[in-house]
Amino acid sequence: MPPASSSEAAAPRGTRVAIIMDGNGRWAEAHGVSVTEGHRAGGDALRHITEAALDLGVRELTVYGFSTENFGRDPEEVAGIMQLFMELVEREAPIMVERNSRMCFMGRRELLGDEIRERMRWAEELTQHGTAMTLCIAFGYGGRAEIIDAARAAVLEDGVDGLDEDSLRRHLYRPELADPDLIIRTAGEQRTSNFLVWQGAYSELVFTDTFWPDFAEPDLRAALVEYAARERRFGGRLTEAGAS
Ligand code: IPE
Ligand code: IPE
Ligand code: MG
Repeated sequence: MPPASSSEAAAPRGTRVAIIMDGNGRWAEAHGVSVTEGHRAGGDALRHITEAALDLGVRELTVYGFSTENFGRDPEEVAGIMQLFMELVEREAPIMVERNSRMCFMGRRELLGDEIRERMRWAEELTQHGTAMTLCIAFGYGGRAEIIDAARAAVLEDGVDGLDEDSLRRHLYRPELADPDLIIRTAGEQRTSNFLVWQGAYSELVFTDTFWPDFAEPDLRAALVEYAARERRFGGRLTEAGAS
């Protein structure tokens, strides 16, 4: 029997999804608008995808919004992203409450301005009781920085001899979130660019050429269907079902 097309097959529910939201700059160039307008369109896409993820039964959605390396971009672009991010948090947090969903953040907050940090704290508190889905925005985030920060905190608490995978995991920025089952990257690049270095060790990867601002519900559904067809082995052998 031919495999069901992504429009027919049901997307699995309960999945933990992470997305590297790439391609805002190229989208802006293709539309003849400023890069900041590209990031604005990216913010709008995030709102729609968050809603789609909830409808598709995604349990946790972690998105890469701004990396530690992105601080090295043109100051005007960085300032534009900071402003848009602040507006997005303020606008979306009350909507997350309406959706019984939680919003949180991961990254080095000390790299961000006081006003942004205050807005993040406000949004986390406002949405803390949401149970339907968690949206976590990685902002000022680097996977290597996270491992360093976690290792330092773990050693302080448990001592060098106490450092093992469990203790490091407990000191990640968001220890309550599970490892992502699926990491999606938009805009054609096939790399993870310092995202979820620890948590992504066994995640399935799906790449799409679509620029992030154009990424919509059917694309998320298709990625989930592709994920469902994968066989995860975690270092073990093929199961009989997978081998047949
Ligand atoms: C992703 O889009 C958003 C951030 C990294 C902040 P880009 O701005 O990297 O878009 P491209 O890769 O230049 O198209
Ligand atoms: C990764 O995209 C960071 C985010 C999407 C926030 P980049 O555009 O910064 O990654 P590279 O430079 O192409 O690896
Ligand atoms: Mg990019």
